[in-house]
Amino acid sequence: MNIFLLTVTVAFVLSLPYWLPPLIIRLRMNVFTRINGEEALHLPSDSFNAEDFKTLYGNPALSGRSKGAELSDLFWYWLAPGPEVHPEHLELSDRYRNLSRFTRQLMARSRTELESMIDQYQQDPLRLSLHHKKNWTSIRLRDAFMPLWADFFYRLLFNEPCNEKTRNLIVNHASDVVNALKCCKLRNMSKRHQLTEFLVNKLESNEFPHPFPPGLTTLEQAHYLQGAFFNTAIVQMSEAMSHLIMVIAQHPHCQERLRSGDHDHYLDDVINESLRLNPLFGIAHRIVTDTVNFKGSTIKKGTVVCFNYPEFHKQGYENPDQFNPDRWQQCPAKDSNFMPFGITSNRSCPAQGLATVTMRRLAFHVINSYWFTSPVPHTRSLPNRGPCLVMLSQSVSGHRFIRHIILPLMLLRDHWEDLYRSLTQLVFGTIMILHAKKLKLCKKYFQQLESL
Ligand code: HEM
Repeated sequence: MNIFLLTVTVAFVLSLPYWLPPLIIRLRMNVFTRINGEEALHLPSDSFNAEDFKTLYGNPALSGRSKGAELSDLFWYWLAPGPEVHPEHLELSDRYRNLSRFTRQLMARSRTELESMIDQYQQDPLRLSLHHKKNWTSIRLRDAFMPLWADFFYRLLFNEPCNEKTRNLIVNHASDVVNALKCCKLRNMSKRHQLTEFLVNKLESNEFPHPFPPGLTTLEQAHYLQGAFFNTAIVQMSEAMSHLIMVIAQHPHCQERLRSGDHDHYLDDVINESLRLNPLFGIAHRIVTDTVNFKGSTIKKGTVVCFNYPEFHKQGYENPDQFNPDRWQQCPAKDSNFMPFGITSNRSCPAQGLATVTMRRLAFHVINSYWFTSPVPHTRSLPNRGPCLVMLSQSVSGHRFIRHIILPLMLLRDHWEDLYRSLTQLVFGTIMILHAKKLKLCKKYFQQLESL
């Protein structure tokens, strides 16, 4: 009897990582929806297809970003300090137009200039120092890419090299934001304030070489740089590169083809396919600013409309869940249900040009420097930060020790981490939602504006 009970208990405990995390994710979604009380319209849906998705996304009456939505208090909480100067969350206004223009100006560099900035990392881009004695190592891709992008964007903005202390300040800040956004950790405002203080000092000593648009205090200028560049830019580029390397690591044939020099269009197709399967925005939302009548339905002013990127990116593709870069030879990206950088007519990404040029160049160097493999499940939200084995050459991945010990251990570790992570995400997510509801950062900001 005791042996029976013991066997059942052990089997139960060992099976936990396989069924508990999906259950907790469902529970988390329910808790979040209840606490937020959001009645949103989700697209695409049975009533609105991919064409309607594009039409409504581009509709100028769907331009609200923050004001009037319950969810905004939570986004502002995650992005603090300074969400009120982050271009992504500003309502259409002079401040929004000025800062959007400024963001584009700061990134306006020629292709050659951007490529040569990336070329500076071509020797060991991830700083892994692999050599014949140490010819493999295990990394988390997102953590490995963050310092590189911190360095890149610091140089882009300040026109000077980024020292290690500054790079750490930036990485600590960006990691803190993305970990809180994914509910993997609680936010740590002291880490964020350290970067604000550093940026204020730089601005006060006139070490920022670009004139800001008028109407911003020094603190607001620091918050703008912190939010748009030292958070959004670094997180987005690190996640995009992590997804790209994860798909390459899990498709050895694609990796071989890229390494063999079949680069020209094939690398572009691989990048597009990675962005199609792993769009960086799961859902982009808009708040309806003027009631819209569309296809016999009335979408009332104040409605939150959620544009579901992963679903939209599946519509109209053969075997949509399959990674198949060659599909882009038959269906050019511009004619497909594919918009990884948003819709041009309604607040699309100002960094599309810079992101595609730099990603492509960096991917070229990274693929030529290392060989990758990863046994862990690859999900769009990437809460595990992309565990990956990096090797000097393909032959290392064939070693028995790697195949029979290291890779299975990585998979096992990921399953158990998944269990722990899903529990912490439930707890941290609930704590942060309740805290954000208490602080009401967005609601209070607009109330204050209206009372002026
Ligand atoms: C591969 C990398 C990137 C991808 C896939 C990406 C994707 C997107 C998407 C889909 C949107 C539109 C969201 C919406 O409709 O609400 C967006 C907006 C935005 N992105 Fe990116 N992004 C990337 C990199 C960057 C970088 C490097 C920056 C640098 C500052 C940046 C800054 C912004 C800003 C400020 C907005 C808001 C635009 C507005 O509301 O006017 N993004 N991005």
